[in-house]
Amino acid sequence: MSDNVPVIAIDGPSGSGKGTLASALAERLGWHLLDSGALYRIVAAVAIARGITLDHESELAAMAEGLDISFKEQKVIVDGEDLTDLIRTEGATSLSSEVAALAGVRAAILTMQREMRRVPGLVADGRDMGTVVFPSAELKIFLDADAETRAQRRYNQLKNKGLSVNLPALLDAIKKRDERDIRRAVSPLKAAGDAIIIDSTAMTIVEVVAEVYAEVVARRLAEGT
Ligand code: C5P
Repeated sequence: MSDNVPVIAIDGPSGSGKGTLASALAERLGWHLLDSGALYRIVAAVAIARGITLDHESELAAMAEGLDISFKEQKVIVDGEDLTDLIRTEGATSLSSEVAALAGVRAAILTMQREMRRVPGLVADGRDMGTVVFPSAELKIFLDADAETRAQRRYNQLKNKGLSVNLPALLDAIKKRDERDIRRAVSPLKAAGDAIIIDSTAMTIVEVVAEVYAEVVARRLAEGT
């Protein structure tokens, strides 16, 4: 890890398109990618599997610290097991924002995240990338969209995967998760003071990527990659 390695921090609520934006930028720049939400989802999925409940914060934190996590070719491998699909289930999704409110769990995950700052650069997406994890990031984006639009996008994604989904239930789940992420005491979801705020409600992902890439070029972050 090095503070000299450039970071692009992308934060925002669920379904704002930040994951798609982050992977498009990482690919274009040839930089590493950190999907920090996946880490909270992993902690949630493993907690469910091991039967560790939310009232056991130190046990959850110790468990999180001890996990051997790697991201290989779009797969999430934890202690040698493929958890790619498990961390996207409804149970893990909902619990992820609850374990994410625990200071001990966040502290355990903080080190893992900072270790991913490696040459030639890192694109990191989450809720507190620009505020807490990488406050010195060269570029900070806060990507927002109204809740109805975000729920509709999730609905389309799941539908395309052939899953049966219910739009009002998705909207309700998104609102609950937003509420927990915004209201928690530790590292709440909020834009960093120096973040560029983009509302993607009426934008396509291609337009969002183009707008952010123009900023990357303006800040000379693409040079040398
Ligand atoms: O981004 P994603 O939806 O995968 O994140 C799952 C959950 O993890 C979020 O609802 C949020 O509570 C938590 N999270 C967080 N901080 C981050 C990334 C995700 O608290 N940097």
